[in-house]
Amino acid sequence: HALRLLTYILVLGYISHEYLQMTHELRRNEAYLAQAQRLTRAGSWAWDPSETHNYYSREVFNIFGLDPTKGNPTLADFVRIYHPEDRTFVEEAEKQLVVEGRGYDVKYRIVRPDGELRWIREVGTPVYEKEAVTGYIGACLDVTEQEHMTQELAREHDRLRFSLEEITELKDKLAKEKLYLEDEIRTESNFEEIIGESAALKRILKQVETVAPTDSAVLIQGETGTGKELIARAIHNLSKRRERTFVKMNCAAIPTGLLESELFGHERGAFTGAIAQRVGRFELAHQGTLFLDEIGDVPLELQSKLLRVLQEQEFERLGSTRTIRVDVRLVAATNRDFAQLVADKQFRSDLYYRLNVFPVVVPSLRDRPEDIPLLVRYFAQQYARRMNKPIVTIPTETMTTLSKYHWPGNIRELENLIERSVILSQGPDLRVPLGELEAPTVTVPNEVATLETAEREHILRVLRETHWVIGGPSGAAARLGMKRTTLQSKLQKLGISRQA
Ligand SMILES: Nc1ncnc2c1ncn2[C@@H]1O[C@H](COP(=O)(O)OP(=O)(O)OP(=O)(O)O)[C@@H](O)[C@H]1O
Ligand SMILES: [Mg+2]
Repeated sequence: HALRLLTYILVLGYISHEYLQMTHELRRNEAYLAQAQRLTRAGSWAWDPSETHNYYSREVFNIFGLDPTKGNPTLADFVRIYHPEDRTFVEEAEKQLVVEGRGYDVKYRIVRPDGELRWIREVGTPVYEKEAVTGYIGACLDVTEQEHMTQELAREHDRLRFSLEEITELKDKLAKEKLYLEDEIRTESNFEEIIGESAALKRILKQVETVAPTDSAVLIQGETGTGKELIARAIHNLSKRRERTFVKMNCAAIPTGLLESELFGHERGAFTGAIAQRVGRFELAHQGTLFLDEIGDVPLELQSKLLRVLQEQEFERLGSTRTIRVDVRLVAATNRDFAQLVADKQFRSDLYYRLNVFPVVVPSLRDRPEDIPLLVRYFAQQYARRMNKPIVTIPTETMTTLSKYHWPGNIRELENLIERSVILSQGPDLRVPLGELEAPTVTVPNEVATLETAEREHILRVLRETHWVIGGPSGAAARLGMKRTTLQSKLQKLGISRQA
């Protein structure tokens, strides 16, 4: 008996020692586990189907901001913490686990009782025993930091993509600008100087000097070939924008349908055929000058958009809602009767007034015949040098005939005729094919006209050319070299009025 008792005691002692050791080890492992969970911000849980022995690790309480002294949280406690927008799909996932026995892996937001928003990644899976579900286990991770990093990365990526787009756009703009400038350099040699000594031309050049340094729009009017483009370039070259691009566009040379995209550019896919994005002339002329030749040909529906850029310096590319701001000085030219276009409702009057801030009317060549010999000599020299021809003289009769000619094509016609003459000339004399000169279609004043009729004719012509504007720097009075009041009384004396 005694021996038996002793054995029992020994065995018991051994067992309790073992038990104590195991408990100790278990506690230690549990402590390690809790530590690991705290460090990784990962909690674990286990549910039993009856929900009587649910288990949540300490870290679950930490993550969800729950008080462990209040015992196990219920499902409703969790649902309250889920972010309202994510509630449904987390509940869906849990239902999927319990009803269908399928595991889940979800990411959702919670709003902790202390109001802090955190991101949770949670996995749940059923536990099987002999093919029957006996419970569920899972783990939840606080992935807030990672999530913030991911979002920051995505933002950074967006920023980079945006910068890349901007760079591509700038590259495109530069490439276009380069093409444009190369083109400009090629045409540069066509106009070196503005030749002429006539009072009419000098008056225009004075106006150019006055208006050039300002930023206001300039409208250049004048017959074909009178040098409107030359004047436009002079305005740019005398302005503080001269270091920037002078961009030219002939509105009459571009099909109406393409005009808008030429002016304002378009995004890829803005219309059929818009394969690539395109920078418009307005953007190209940023901080420079945009010269719109034949502005009278801009269709009505585009005029309002043009007016907006003029007034607000902003527009959108076709197919884009992004507003682009530009700083562009507009110089426009036309050889059409603008006032008439407005009267015929083909041109918006508001745009006309906006453009007509500073009108420059370039005189036709027949109104400044004293410039003809100068121009003939100038072009003869230019072409002779270019073609390596030793032309030294221009016969007097030739010069007289040229001076009397009415030059419907103005300086361009004269220049072309002289170029042809240089080609045809063999010796030192310039041989002009005078037979080519067009017979005047307009009736020239009667040869035996009295001085008064001649005066009357002349005044009427100037009035027509200035569109009956009498005063101002480009008005009829200035062009006739008299005071406005003098001209007015002369008009009265001669009985000239607009209806006449
Ligand atoms: N005063 C001038 N001195 C020298 N060359 C000139 C002068 N005026 C015009 N030219 C030359 O005459 C040609 C026609 O000029 P420009 O193209 O400027 O005329 P335009 O009025 O714009 O004509 P269009 O109405 O047909 O467009 C150009 O080659 C230009 O260099
Ligand atoms: Mg022109």
